[in-house]
Amino acid sequence: MLDSTHFVTEPLVAVLVDSADLLSQGRAWADRLALPLTQRADPGVATLFLTLTADRLELRSADPAEGGAVYVDFVAGKGGFRRQREGGLRQPLARAVGLRGSRPCTIVDATPGLGQDALVLAALGGEVQMVERSPVVAALLADGLRRLAAQRLEQPLLLTLQEGDARLVLAGLEVEGVCPDVVYLDPMYPHRDGSALSKKEMRRLRILVGDDDDAAALLAVAVRVARQRVVVKRPRQAPVLGDQRPSMAIYSKNTRYDVYLTADRQRV
Ligand SMILES: C[S@@+](CC[C@H](N)C(=O)[O-])C[C@H]1O[C@@H](n2cnc3c(N)ncnc32)[C@H](O)[C@@H]1O
Repeated sequence: MLDSTHFVTEPLVAVLVDSADLLSQGRAWADRLALPLTQRADPGVATLFLTLTADRLELRSADPAEGGAVYVDFVAGKGGFRRQREGGLRQPLARAVGLRGSRPCTIVDATPGLGQDALVLAALGGEVQMVERSPVVAALLADGLRRLAAQRLEQPLLLTLQEGDARLVLAGLEVEGVCPDVVYLDPMYPHRDGSALSKKEMRRLRILVGDDDDAAALLAVAVRVARQRVVVKRPRQAPVLGDQRPSMAIYSKNTRYDVYLTADRQRV
C-alpha cells in the first residue's frame, strides 16, 4: 500500500546566484523549488546553497570546512561517461544488473542521487530512467543531463530523469503495462565505504534527503514491478534490506549487490 507520509523537507537550502546577471534564472529556480533566493552565501540564510553559476548548478556548503561545490558531472573526471565505458561489462554492477552488450535492458534507477551508478549503467548500454524524489537533487541531475546533451554524442546515452517518489512512479508503470526489466536501488546507508560518491558528496546528500528509512517499502514495490530482477546496493557487511533474502549476491571490494530475480515469479 503506497502512502505519502514520507516528505523530503529542505528548509536548509537556499538558491544562490553567482552574479547579478543570473538573478532572473535564480528567481525561476527559487520559485520552482519554493526556496529563498540570495546573492550571498551567508550561513544565517541556509546550510546549503543550490548555486547557479554561468556554467552549471552546484550545491555549496555555507561552511568552508565542508569543502568545495558538489555537482553532477556525466561528462568529465572520474564520473565521465568515457571512463565508465572503459570499466566494461565485467564490473560487478553490470554483472549484478545482468547487462549484456547485445541485449537491450530497461532499467529504473529508483534512487539515483548524483547519478554515478545510473551513468555506469547507461554508458554500458542500459536504457536508464532515473526517478529522484528530492527536488534539489533532481535539479542537479537535470543540469548534469543538460550539459551531457550539449556534448552531442554520436551515440547518445539512453539516460532520462523523472522527479518523483519511485514507489509511485513504479506503481504507475505497472498500471500502464510498461514495467522495466530491472529496478536498481542504492538507498542511503549510515556507513558508505563502497559508495560511488565521495564522503563530501554523501554528507551533502544526507543533509538534503536524510536516511531513506522507507527503503524496504520501495524494495517491496520494485520486486513486484521488475520483469527480470531488482538489484540493491549495500555496504559489503550490511544486513539485507528489509529482511528480504536475495536470490544471489555479487561482491566488489566494499560493496555487495543483492540480486532479487523476479522473472520466474512473473511466469507463474
Ligand atoms: C545513496 S543516494 C544514491 C547514490 C547514487 N547511486 C549515485 O551513484 O550517485 C540515494 C538517493 O535515492 C533517493 N531516493 C531514496 N528513496 C527514493 C524514492 N522512494 N524515490 C525516489 N528517490 C529516492 C534519495 O533522495 C537519494 O538522492
